[in-house]
Amino acid sequence: MTDENAHRATAALSRPFSVRGLTSRNRVAMAPMTRQFSPNGVPGRDVADYYARRAAGGVGLIITEGTYVDHASAGTSDRIPVFHGEDAFAGWAGVADAVHREGGAIIPQLWHVGVTRAEGAPPVADAEPVGPSGVSLSGEPKGRAMTQKDLDDVIGAFADAAAAAERLGFDGVELHGAHGYLIDQFLWEGSNRRTDAYGGGIVARTRFAAEIVAACRAAVSDAFPLFFRMSQWKMDAYEAKLAQTPEELEAILTPLADAGVDVFHASTRRYWLPEFGDSDLNLAGWVKKISGRPTVTVGSVGLDGDFFSAFQGNGSSVTGVDQLLERIERDEFDMVAVGRALIADPEWAAKTLQGRTGDITPFGAEMLKTLY
Ligand SMILES: Cc1cc2nc3c(=O)[nH]c(=O)nc-3n(C[C@H](O)[C@H](O)[C@H](O)COP(=O)(O)O)c2cc1C
Repeated sequence: MTDENAHRATAALSRPFSVRGLTSRNRVAMAPMTRQFSPNGVPGRDVADYYARRAAGGVGLIITEGTYVDHASAGTSDRIPVFHGEDAFAGWAGVADAVHREGGAIIPQLWHVGVTRAEGAPPVADAEPVGPSGVSLSGEPKGRAMTQKDLDDVIGAFADAAAAAERLGFDGVELHGAHGYLIDQFLWEGSNRRTDAYGGGIVARTRFAAEIVAACRAAVSDAFPLFFRMSQWKMDAYEAKLAQTPEELEAILTPLADAGVDVFHASTRRYWLPEFGDSDLNLAGWVKKISGRPTVTVGSVGLDGDFFSAFQGNGSSVTGVDQLLERIERDEFDMVAVGRALIADPEWAAKTLQGRTGDITPFGAEMLKTLY
């Protein structure tokens, strides 16, 4: 990187970002990444150290791996952390503390997997997969359609988790509304075939998500921001598009913003791809323009291969962030989430902000096997 670019990196990414009572000292966020290093759902000292290492390495905001809300069917592994119960809460308080000591802000990503839950899987083996209509993402019969009581229970579970996050010292929460998990299953026509108030047109399909947002908003103080992660793609359908046009995107975003979303996190695999037609705005750019809310972008920042390739066992070389800088200088979006590059190198943020790109460790798929 030239001196001039190094200076630009520092200037554009080093600006603090604030929303409600949360302040991130710079624009670099750690993307939420499931690591499966929390036996019995309890994040231990190693998990706290792992996040604290990224905060010490310059990350402004940590978004934790997805963590299950308190509902029997919420999860599908007993190595993924839960966000309920004394033991997990003690672990999470330790995580938040460790990150704060290194000057980072931290929010947990609250998650319910819906019908993607594997039958008979832990953490609650006999809990049936549940979703909007008892069909999988591809429309095959799977699990059970949620009753009104199920909906109320899950909405309450998200609200309880948000309140607990504030109590435990976190700086906000992110609701996992992306990638084909429960909240997203309601948004898609193919997996939501309900004929009640939660199904039908796109606005009705947004109702469940909006009710979760509103319940979380009511459960926390004014100082506590709500992030909402959304995506166009879903698991096993990486080229799918939830919204085909900016108008459809607006129909989804408006009820969510009205319900109380403070920041949208627009999940894409490659941040530089234009989302619609003849504008070069990416998804985070469009979401910001349409909703008027700050946004987080993500997808292959600093790497030359997308994250799906990591699951196929592939590494990625380090690339520069010039294009990213141009976009963030234009305020196309407000924060940049970094995934695999931060697994590979806990000091990615500091090295990037200091223009030391050449010192960055490249990502290798074997790095997913250990927690460092
Ligand atoms: C190992 C791994 C686990 C992930 N787990 C989650 C998750 O729990 N929640 C989520 O919203 N996204 C998850 N993602 C997606 C990332 O947050 C991110 O959007 C994706 O990796 C693209 O960013 P990158 O190209 O910088 O890695 C995961 C990605 C990876 C590689």
